Amino acid sequence: MMDKSLRVYVACRFPPEVLDLFVQRFRATYNGTGRILTAAELVARAEGMDAIIITATDRVDKDVVAQLPSSVKVVCTYSVGTDHMDLDALREKGISVLSTPDVLNESCADAALLLMLGAARRVIEGSALIREGRWTGWSPQQLIGHDVWGKRLGILGMGRIGRAIATRARGFNMQIHYHNRSRLAADIEAGARYHDDLATLAAHSDFLCIACPASRSTRGIINADILGRLPANAIVCNVSRGDIIQDEDLIQALESGAIAAAGLDVFAGEPNIHPAYRTMPNVFGLPHIGSSTLDTRIAMGEILCTGLEAWATGTKPVNQVC
Ligand code: DGY
Repeated sequence: MMDKSLRVYVACRFPPEVLDLFVQRFRATYNGTGRILTAAELVARAEGMDAIIITATDRVDKDVVAQLPSSVKVVCTYSVGTDHMDLDALREKGISVLSTPDVLNESCADAALLLMLGAARRVIEGSALIREGRWTGWSPQQLIGHDVWGKRLGILGMGRIGRAIATRARGFNMQIHYHNRSRLAADIEAGARYHDDLATLAAHSDFLCIACPASRSTRGIINADILGRLPANAIVCNVSRGDIIQDEDLIQALESGAIAAAGLDVFAGEPNIHPAYRTMPNVFGLPHIGSSTLDTRIAMGEILCTGLEAWATGTKPVNQVC
């Protein structure tokens, strides 16, 4: 369904396949600058719009919400995470929020497996040998990594993405452990072992994979204490948000050899990440590409369009956050 009466401002640069969806379905104008807008620019361009489409790199904090023009009734975020927005302030102002749940579960779970395998098998170091012409031939001592098969996987946050990671990990004969705000029903748990505190989860995690949302209660929870409880040669992976990890503590654990490696797709302060992550051989880092496949990018655009169209007809969108 098209709703050409709905005025939509698209604040971020999208692949053409995604931008086309917005332009074809709504009276859409978009940011053609090729850069992230400042808060003042975003507010100015929202003038006269019914809805704005932003991403996780656009901060919609209390001040921005206060300045949003009264025409704006919906903020659509092209992300499943909503930690870049002040949801309370938006709710108070009567602005609805739509996000992109579910459609990115599989690509993010694929990325989690990629991080686990890449970190365990020292992919960065091996790839550098090839690319830089430094490989001198096969040797039994070369780049000895760690098995993934049969190991214990601790998942922090057993939501939709966490469960998609577990599904894949079962194919690697991994034993699944998890910590979540609440225990899942037995049929959803599917044999995974619940730990009601993070410290116990850590003690049972050869791989600790972070898949919980960033919030007041999860920021900084991966700290020296938790890292110190991991078994020898553990590997930490993060597909959620960087600020769940205390960087200095993780770097110390990696440098001291207390843990073997980290696979990180997300970082605190992106893109200005802690410089140590750029050079440490046991950090397999990716630039926040968990959901970055064409199929998922298009599906994320589709779910925002469908949600916005439902909202316009007074039906509650499946992807409405508030
Ligand atoms: C998400 O959808 O939250 C991704 O991390 C992109 O921001």
